[in-house]
Amino acid sequence: MYDTIVGVVKTFQIAIDGPVAAGKGTTAKLVAQRLGFLYVDTGAMYRSLTLYSQRAGVVLTDEAAVVGLLQKDKPHVDLRVPSESERDGRLCTVLLNGEDVSWKVRTEEVSRGVSIITQYAGVRDMITPLARKIAETQDVVMEGRDITSVVLPRADMLIYMDAQPMERAIRRHRELLMRGEDVTLDQVHADLVERDERDSHRQIAPLKKVPGAWILDTTGMTIDQVADKIVERVNEKRSQEN
Ligand code: DC
Repeated sequence: MYDTIVGVVKTFQIAIDGPVAAGKGTTAKLVAQRLGFLYVDTGAMYRSLTLYSQRAGVVLTDEAAVVGLLQKDKPHVDLRVPSESERDGRLCTVLLNGEDVSWKVRTEEVSRGVSIITQYAGVRDMITPLARKIAETQDVVMEGRDITSVVLPRADMLIYMDAQPMERAIRRHRELLMRGEDVTLDQVHADLVERDERDSHRQIAPLKKVPGAWILDTTGMTIDQVADKIVERVNEKRSQEN
């Protein structure tokens, strides 16, 4: 599709936000596959910077130390569609300075750390332009917490995906057990509520429902049903535009 004003290729952007385990990742990946779009997991980008900081031994609650380290070292974060040999259940391949950290960024330790460093403006200022740049060059399904509000507020489709907290905790607990992590459902539920609280109440780029967003409650729905709904709406929108 061509933007008639500036004559450059205009990409189709689907922006998805929502709390932990609302089904954003698996749904976004499936929608991207069906439409031939790129799936962009911005949480994985923040997770990579968290892992980098933890490995360097900085105290994550020390904002100046974290931002200083990341600004000095400028670790390189890359996302790509998993290659044939990387298809082990991951949604995307995450590279940190070239190292495959796709699973290393999914531990509970990184999950706890990431919600601390995503509160820092200096950290967000590293990821936001990177995410925007990706969406300017290809059709994307991008998910996170501030995609509809900050990163791509003018996206073709703005979605806020949600589900009831206990259902989200059960989904997340199942995922962690499959990965061999030893946690109880109660722990996962408490962690999830705490992280939601932090993501929605932080001063900078909090998770919120923006005006005009499609509120999609996935409670009791399968991933396929959610993906079908989104693809159907995208196709409707595209046919209206043509
Ligand atoms: O979606 P996730 O669980 O991988 O996200 C990891 C953390 O990063 C989570 O605490 C929310 C935060 N995040 C954010 O603040 N902004 C984004 N665009 C994506 C994730």
